[in-house]
Amino acid sequence: MNKDVIIALDFPTLEDTINFLEKFGDEKLFVKVGMELYLQNGPVVLKKIKSLGHKVFLDLKLHDIPNTVYGATKGLAQFKVDILTVHGAGGYEMLAAAKRGMIEGGSVETNVIAITQLTSTSEKQVKEEQLVGVSLEESVINYAKLAKKAGLDGVVSSVWEAKVIKENCGEEFLKVTPGIRLETDEVGDQKRVATPERAACEGSTHIVVGRSITKAKNPLEVYNLIKKQFTKKY
Ligand code: C5P
Repeated sequence: MNKDVIIALDFPTLEDTINFLEKFGDEKLFVKVGMELYLQNGPVVLKKIKSLGHKVFLDLKLHDIPNTVYGATKGLAQFKVDILTVHGAGGYEMLAAAKRGMIEGGSVETNVIAITQLTSTSEKQVKEEQLVGVSLEESVINYAKLAKKAGLDGVVSSVWEAKVIKENCGEEFLKVTPGIRLETDEVGDQKRVATPERAACEGSTHIVVGRSITKAKNPLEVYNLIKKQFTKKY
């Protein structure tokens, strides 16, 4: 399986996004379009980025009743994004509806994946805010198994759960892991962070990197370094 570094394009405008992408020359990238960019600029962002030849991870984290999510993914299918996220907490029916909508909308090739627990969520929050009676890791495994059962193609988790997800859901099941930091980076609001090497060792299939690349003085240089560390054979 290809191991990809996905760059999170957390920018407010399409103009900022294009200016940033120009720093990579002809390099074909895998980029993440999330709420900040998509909700302010709409589908034009997807069309533009696709027309430049980049792969798109549309991180909308859909979470609603099954019928509404079905309608949303059926409509989104036309953009042929490579990966789309929905929330595992939406439940089995919602997850299955998300995949069904994507297929019936005409995009069998789009990987629909589930968010397990956000990488900014701590063990303490799982216990005290979500009132989940199991550990954070067990909660992540539960969502991963639920997503697999519902016919989804993978999950988003922190690097620290990738190995156990592989054991439970198999090699082919996508393990997309944000919360990536280089040794020298600041952690910011993320809690369960790891380096690209650690992600490779734990079995992540894709890593999502935002600020370490977007805020770098030389984004291309940092991207190449992260790619080298993540794709090296350990
Ligand atoms: O800047 P940073 O590398 O922390 O960005 C990580 C990106 O991954 C953000 O766009 C964030 O929304 C996303 N993400 C995450 N944790 C998840 C799912 C997505 O950090 N579980």
